[in-house]
Amino acid sequence: MREVTVTINGAQVSGREGMTILEVAQQNGIDIPTLCYSPDLRPIGACRICVVEVEGSRTLVGSCHTPITPGMVIYTHSPKVLETRKVILELLLASHCGSCIICDKANLCNMRAIAADLEVGLPRFHLRKRYYPIEDISPYVQRDLTKCVLCWRCIQACSEIAKQNVFSTGYRSFNSKVVVDCDEPLNKEVCRDCGVCIAYCPTGALTKPRKLSEEKQGKSLVITS
Ligand code: SF4
Ligand code: SF4
Ligand code: FES
Repeated sequence: MREVTVTINGAQVSGREGMTILEVAQQNGIDIPTLCYSPDLRPIGACRICVVEVEGSRTLVGSCHTPITPGMVIYTHSPKVLETRKVILELLLASHCGSCIICDKANLCNMRAIAADLEVGLPRFHLRKRYYPIEDISPYVQRDLTKCVLCWRCIQACSEIAKQNVFSTGYRSFNSKVVVDCDEPLNKEVCRDCGVCIAYCPTGALTKPRKLSEEKQGKSLVITS
């Protein structure tokens, strides 16, 4: 494959034809935050957190799905890029549940790590939050969609890696949601011994159910005389 030379943050670097800006940046030790991207999945450009500035382009471009072209001049951490990433993240956090301190995903949460890197604290925006009941019927996967950031990685991971199609997109705009069948709670036997979607969820929206249910724990605490 042909070699393509581009300039990233003032330094000339090369990649193979067809590589994305993100791939070339990563190959050269430049860290660009991502939420919906995974090297194992087809890039869909859902979250926009990976935006970069490209000279001559009217708008910022998503680095995870934009291929490099010869002579491209790219800035991955310009003031405009950093400010835009912060706003994108603040908007996500503004509609997020706000229970990060007690979340099971804790320090494994990608969004929390990106917020720390970008020094984003409490969002400036006041948005309506989406609240959904926790789905804990399935013995294999627990869903708490109040923590979902609509990155669609679970849909892709289930389809492309687990080779199942348990999830799909449902509703529109503010009400957009990852749905199972006709928006039923997740409870599928195909999830036994899988858990692929849990591994790809960048927040605490998908987790393994706790070993003991609240009910069982409660029973074990009953003291009989
Ligand atoms: S556990 Fe596996 S089969 Fe079940 S929804 Fe997740 S990825 Fe799909
Ligand atoms: S449940 Fe997780 S992986 Fe699926 S869309 Fe929401 S945040 Fe992304
Ligand atoms: S990581 Fe590139 S658009 Fe989400």
